[in-house]
Amino acid sequence: MIRIWGVKFWVSCLIIAFFFLFVTLQVVVELGNFEKQKVSSLVQDANQQKLSGPLLKGLHESIFYRKLEHGVGSYPVMLWWSPLTGENGRLGRCGGETCFFTINRTYLQNPMTKAILFYGTDFNIDSLPLPRKLYHEWALFHEESPKNNYKLFHPPTITLFNHTATFSRHSHLPLTSQYLEDLQTLTSVEYFVSIQKKNFLRKNLAPVVYVQSDCDPPSDRDTYVQELMKYVSVDSYGECLHNRDLPPQVNNPSFMDDTQFYRILAQYKFILAFENAVCEDYITEKLWRPLKLGCVPIYYGATNIEDWLPCNKSVIIVSKFSHPRELAQYIKQLDRNDSLYMEYLEWKIQGHISNSDLIHAIKDRTWGVQDVTQDNYIDAFECLVCRRVWDNIRLQRKGLQTKRWKADSKHLSCPAPKPFSFIAERSPKTSMRELWKPSFEQSKKEAKALRFLVDRNRNFTSEEFWNFVFKH
Ligand SMILES: *[C@@H]1O[C@H](CO)[C@@H](O)[C@H](O)[C@H]1NC(C)=O
Ligand SMILES: *[C@@H]1O[C@H](CO)[C@@H](O)[C@H](O)[C@H]1NC(C)=O
Ligand SMILES: *[C@@H]1O[C@H](CO)[C@@H](O)[C@H](O)[C@H]1NC(C)=O
Ligand SMILES: *[C@@H]1O[C@H](CO)[C@@H](O)[C@H](O)[C@H]1NC(C)=O
Ligand SMILES: *[C@@H]1O[C@H](CO)[C@@H](O)[C@H](O)[C@H]1NC(C)=O
Repeated sequence: MIRIWGVKFWVSCLIIAFFFLFVTLQVVVELGNFEKQKVSSLVQDANQQKLSGPLLKGLHESIFYRKLEHGVGSYPVMLWWSPLTGENGRLGRCGGETCFFTINRTYLQNPMTKAILFYGTDFNIDSLPLPRKLYHEWALFHEESPKNNYKLFHPPTITLFNHTATFSRHSHLPLTSQYLEDLQTLTSVEYFVSIQKKNFLRKNLAPVVYVQSDCDPPSDRDTYVQELMKYVSVDSYGECLHNRDLPPQVNNPSFMDDTQFYRILAQYKFILAFENAVCEDYITEKLWRPLKLGCVPIYYGATNIEDWLPCNKSVIIVSKFSHPRELAQYIKQLDRNDSLYMEYLEWKIQGHISNSDLIHAIKDRTWGVQDVTQDNYIDAFECLVCRRVWDNIRLQRKGLQTKRWKADSKHLSCPAPKPFSFIAERSPKTSMRELWKPSFEQSKKEAKALRFLVDRNRNFTSEEFWNFVFKH
């Protein structure tokens, strides 16, 4: 296709590229820091009026739009249907490939638009890019817990997508370790409190700490913890089951990642690490934080959590106990016997992670967490899709069979919420607890309706959608 345009095109491309490079260098000099790999940050900077000279800005914009005209002709367009990135237009480089990324929905009609990118939390039935053209690849980024958008977690919806990035190891870009910065923070002893000091502090502190302010989520953790509290004392600093106040200087949600707050937590022997949902591979900072601090996590959440632990004896797994009473007995036994307790911290003291799967998962991932020297997971997702689109463009040009991509139901799934059977008496009485199961069941119907309407391939109103959900 490009070849038809001939030499003139390449020459003008070269001139534009050279000119662009020149301006880029100017800007680098001006700004002193140029965002790695993103041709585009220039565009953003210009749009956000960060450049000092209006002349430079005008110059640069005109180059950008000229480039854009070509861009439409020669770069595949990746249209973010959710305004996640807020970027109106950016040429993004992914190694050797370049794609144009935009949130501007007018590009839906553009023949160069090859992929439509969705952020799961705002995947909405109100406005979907329908009719879907044969060459429209749908890509889903959803790192969140199921409670954010249950309908995505069922086979009829997840299989609508060609490409996925989710917390599941089965997705195309697994984000399972998204809350772990690196392996060094795990073995670090920066916050470590010795067992002698912990025993001394026990005069004033409970053996176990709980800090949660998102109360009564689908995992029903608060019911379990409330029952546990009958058998062993727990200091609860958050809004849920609150029984102890933080010192005023850290008593603020923004201090959740503050070192002062970490030092308070690190004084405890055990930290309750209960996820808000119970699904395979759904793991958050609730697991990693106690491990970083040198406390023993008491974990409830991912059913396959053992695959992700630094070593076999590092975490107490709630599901191994038949009742909170049994768990409490075990906690008290470790609280009394230092050598039994310290077995759980052996790996930390030795600085040794024995789980090679975990080591590989961190070393092999193509993105970083809070690391400016690496792409973040959204960049990595954009590039995964961009590269796959380019691969197929090249195959097509050679007249070869293109690759097909399709999500399967394992890319995002989670079983229905199961509330605990203990009697939960809480005041004020919460209604959320009773809602999760019916809302999960309802979301199955929504998934079916959505699938039917998308396959029909015409746009639809939300009224039509809800009629369909309730009729069938
Ligand atoms: C969206 O793109 C169209 C061209 O496709 C352009 O005319 C319009 O100004 C853009 N909108 C925004 C908000 O940038
Ligand atoms: C702690 O537990 C170990 C292993 O069960 C046992 O050998 C030891 O006697 C216990 N220590 C105390 C002080 O109870
Ligand atoms: C944990 O124990 C299992 C068997 O009990 C073993 O196969 C596995 O290699 C151990 N994992 C680590 C990280 O030591
Ligand atoms: C994307 O998914 C749709 C629907 O399943 C399918 O028709 C299309 O062939 C897929 N595209 C690619 C490139 O795999
Ligand atoms: C569907 O799209 C057409 C044009 O693309 C528009 O006129 C119509 O209002 C849309 N219908 C719904 C239900 O959104």
